[in-house]
Amino acid sequence: HFRREIPEGLRRLPGPTPLPIIGNFLELGSKPYLSLTEMSKRFGDVFQIQLGMRPVVILSGYETVKQALTKQGDDFAGRPDLYSFRFINDGKSLAFSTDKAGVWRARRKLAYSALRSFSSLEGKLPEYSCVLEEHICKETEHLIKELHNVMTAEGKFDPFRYIVVSVANVICGMCFGRRYDHHNQELLSLVNLAEDFVQVTGSGNPADFIPALQFLPNKSMKKFVNLNNRFNNFVQKIVSEHYSTFDKDNIRDITDSLIDHCEDRKLDENSNIQMSDEKIVGIVNDLFGAGFDTISTALSWAVMYLVAYPEVEERLYEEIKEKVGLDRTPVMSDRSNLPLLESFILELFRHSSYLPFTIPHCSTKDTSLNGYFIPKDTCVFVNQWQINHDPELWKDPSMFIPDRFLSADGTEVNKQEGEKVLIFGLGRRRCIGEVIARNEVFLFLAIIIQKLHFYKLPGEPVDMTPEYGLTMKHKRCYLGVAMRAKDVQ
Ligand code: HEM
Repeated sequence: HFRREIPEGLRRLPGPTPLPIIGNFLELGSKPYLSLTEMSKRFGDVFQIQLGMRPVVILSGYETVKQALTKQGDDFAGRPDLYSFRFINDGKSLAFSTDKAGVWRARRKLAYSALRSFSSLEGKLPEYSCVLEEHICKETEHLIKELHNVMTAEGKFDPFRYIVVSVANVICGMCFGRRYDHHNQELLSLVNLAEDFVQVTGSGNPADFIPALQFLPNKSMKKFVNLNNRFNNFVQKIVSEHYSTFDKDNIRDITDSLIDHCEDRKLDENSNIQMSDEKIVGIVNDLFGAGFDTISTALSWAVMYLVAYPEVEERLYEEIKEKVGLDRTPVMSDRSNLPLLESFILELFRHSSYLPFTIPHCSTKDTSLNGYFIPKDTCVFVNQWQINHDPELWKDPSMFIPDRFLSADGTEVNKQEGEKVLIFGLGRRRCIGEVIARNEVFLFLAIIIQKLHFYKLPGEPVDMTPEYGLTMKHKRCYLGVAMRAKDVQ
């Protein structure tokens, strides 16, 4: 459809000249967030590339992205029909499927309210302000014990390996009402699938755009199909157990609340949106998947930055020592009193931009942006990395400087600066886990910075080059960790 006539008064999208069959794949290279950022300097905030058979519009620039995703939100709220997305959650994913606006909106609302009630809900124990806080406090306790054990036994530890289990347990607690031991092989092999998942779902996967690749033997796609099946089986087993022990008067977790919703809906004659039970209960699959990979990647990067910038780690420790003290564990309500930690988190999101593109979007009708014509059903990539490194918005964008977010006297976070960091998307498709994620990253970090000191080990390389994907990870590595003095018995 890219040869279609352009309506009067609108312009044709600029962009690089495509080669036959492959289009602009060669120019995309192995780090599309960098190559597309370079191209945006030549072609502007809205331009088009050709990936295989498909035209793809690339959006850059904060104002342009805000215009598209919020002011013209409905025009760009769709998801493209991509080959790899059909295998996620059996094609019934909330985040990746091509559900039409009505069904998607109803599912999103359900997911949002289930998530909210099972995170901000009062916990069973009076010492915690909410279930999320309770889960995180307990998981950090387990984590610290595990790290102590592995340091004693091996003298080093792989940060991602331990963090991912702790984070998975927090979302497992909310979704399924259970946790797994750090050495549980079933959970470990499941969380390790995330690395292969994000490689295929990163924007610009060739198999999504060159149909011939779907029919040729393709190792990474085969792995992808297989890992999605394993993931679905894991969740399905837990869901079946929930069905067989379901009690309407005792809703234990998010899975129960979704099952309960299916029951209610059957009694509701006015319910006008047709949705199968599978599509409702299947929401838990999205919440669990989105809830562990994104946050464990953030925390793993955080530990890498602490190790790379020991003077920042020391200042963060001092801030906690002064504002919280060392006699109690930090809690959620300390967040507003720890501006340096808040700035560190913002700078970590900005500098790493480990979620470089949002999930791809799709135009839902013929529309225009900045005077350019964009036909219905055009795939759209939103380059969050470009915005987070735009020299128009940031001084020395390639430098890691948490202080850039602090007010002049260092006592508070400059909210306006913070809002320019784009990592959760914007508008209709904006992440529904954002509030939980920001709270969770904060509390995990506050607790581990209070109790632990991380360091590089001689002879163990620390490589912070990101591997491209939907979420970008640093190379696996070994670090050292020591208990802060007060906790050494
Ligand atoms: C969507 C980022 C944590 C659930 C998204 C999107 C981004 C994102 C960029 C896509 C936005 C778009 O397409 O425009 C993040 C980051 C997180 C995080 C950086 C952690 C630091 C979470 C958590 C949950 C969650 C904890 C749930 C437990 C979802 C869901 C969607 C989504 C369900 C799909 C929304 C839709 O398509 O309507 N997230 N997320 N995320 N996120 Fe998150």
